[in-house]
Amino acid sequence: MGDDLEEVLVTAEQIDARLDELAAQIDADYAGKDLLLVGVLRGAVMVMADLSRKLHTQLEMDWMAVSSYGSGTRSSGVVRILKDLDTDIHGRHVLIVEDIIDSGLTLSWLASNLRSRGPASLEIATLLRKPEAKKVDVDVRYVAFDIPPAFVVGYGLDYAEKYRHLPFVGTLAPHVYGG
Ligand code: IMP
Ligand code: MG
Repeated sequence: MGDDLEEVLVTAEQIDARLDELAAQIDADYAGKDLLLVGVLRGAVMVMADLSRKLHTQLEMDWMAVSSYGSGTRSSGVVRILKDLDTDIHGRHVLIVEDIIDSGLTLSWLASNLRSRGPASLEIATLLRKPEAKKVDVDVRYVAFDIPPAFVVGYGLDYAEKYRHLPFVGTLAPHVYGG
């Protein structure tokens, strides 16, 4: 698998240290509130597992799966819910946990969908954010790392469902995706 990767962008140690910082911030922000973490399948599995274990705040977890319609690799912003929440979020303090925000279209749709269900609060935490995400009007409270616009894999993120299990985030070598 070594040949498939070009560069390690974020090491396992950097992720661990940065999630400690975010967890401390989240604990402080949600002190005395009971928190519902909403993970977006499948990419957010790793960050959900590691971030949640660093939190001392009382919390529950739920999961959603969504797919963006659209041609090619760009998302169109039209989103279909493949698996909805099992939890009624009305009156709840909801924190969406995402792996990466690229165009921001998926998350912007998801945030307004969840907001329409009347949560007490709705915020977003993401492991990674690419520069383009800043163009979309979606307010992201917690960002672990801002990264360059390259396609990345590892720590939950896939290329054709592979590489999710890598403990770090890296860029793919061009030969893997036919570049
Ligand atoms: P957006 O609507 O463009 O923000 O799409 C975000 C979704 O596309 C993420 O939740 C990922 O599933 C996927 N995605 C975007 N960039 C990458 C990447 O660099 N590697 C792997 N998946 C990505
Ligand atoms: Mg995702």
